Amino acid sequence: MEIRRSLSNHAGPRRSPHEVARRLAGWVTPDTTPEGPVRELEERVAGLLGKQKALFFPSGTMAQQSVLRVHAERTGRHAFAGHPQSHLHVWENQGYSAVHGLRFHPVGDRNGLLGLDDLKAVKEPLAAVVFELPQRDIGGLLPTFEELRQQTGWVRGRGAAAHCDGARIWEAQTGFDVTLPEIAGLFDTVYVSLYKGLEGVRGAVLAGDTGTIGHAEVWRRRLGGAIADAWPLAAIALMGMDENLPRMAEFAAHARALAKAINDDGFAHTTPEVPATPLFHVHLPMPPEQAQRAAENLAEEAGIKLFLYARSNPDPRRCSFEVSVGISALELAPGEVAELIRGLPSRV
Ligand SMILES: Cc1ncc(COP(=O)(O)O)c(C=O)c1O
Repeated sequence: MEIRRSLSNHAGPRRSPHEVARRLAGWVTPDTTPEGPVRELEERVAGLLGKQKALFFPSGTMAQQSVLRVHAERTGRHAFAGHPQSHLHVWENQGYSAVHGLRFHPVGDRNGLLGLDDLKAVKEPLAAVVFELPQRDIGGLLPTFEELRQQTGWVRGRGAAAHCDGARIWEAQTGFDVTLPEIAGLFDTVYVSLYKGLEGVRGAVLAGDTGTIGHAEVWRRRLGGAIADAWPLAAIALMGMDENLPRMAEFAAHARALAKAINDDGFAHTTPEVPATPLFHVHLPMPPEQAQRAAENLAEEAGIKLFLYARSNPDPRRCSFEVSVGISALELAPGEVAELIRGLPSRV
């Protein structure tokens, strides 16, 4: 099945092996060394975020486990806090505990954004608090910059590290009136993904002060992440920085146009109603198994990937899915998307 257009930047045509190989072939020169692209990527991310140092990791899962371990060793504390629907807690088989003996302290309402009062209610000493920007599993909600400033200030004032799960920090920046260094400046450490908004293949970068990143490098080696020759992942991410980063505001505007068309149509609705970033959720009046089957049939018949998977809902008659707008999704016009969604029941 060939995917020609996609509403998910995890699974677009830009990620096909043929397309990746074609783009790499046009980028590499006889002077490209195996170390060069990774070094360039690390320097570029550190510069964009205004941090002293940055380090490549094969995955965000490994980068965040490593940095939480470092914050725990520095503070002598074993608990860290975060939103109940943090990626770290929900999607990573509790690696922080199984591998590092750390404890996760969920704070706040699982369906809303974390607030300062939620943090103040935590009575145990914390090594770190993880702030996921935007909060992916609740539709990409984003706090205001002022809320974030107060929360990170409170956390750091208590000797804990403020860590940003910035898998989508490039996308999140479009929802604030401030620059990337101003956002990153609220945090001790920031992880960014190379394959969401940048539409790379895989990989992550962790940024922070020289001491913390040096310490994280030790954990990267222990966990098997010090892979030489990671240059193809870095090279494709560098291309994403050139092509995708300047277009983040355009992606966010397209997300808002898609959401408006879906909400105006009325068959489905989005959360948030007006997306704060290029990521949002669509809620369908269909059971998840049916929606999944319909989306697979659509991909088979028309080469259009509407979503990666249907998310279940407490009401079994309903489900939702994630939209993440990148270059691939720009090719899907708002009216066409609303019509495709309305037509899902006919494809079951
Ligand atoms: C918010 C968030 N954090 C962390 C990760 C983990 O990244 P990786 O897949 O590189 O391990 C993801 C991946 O989807 C994510 O969405």
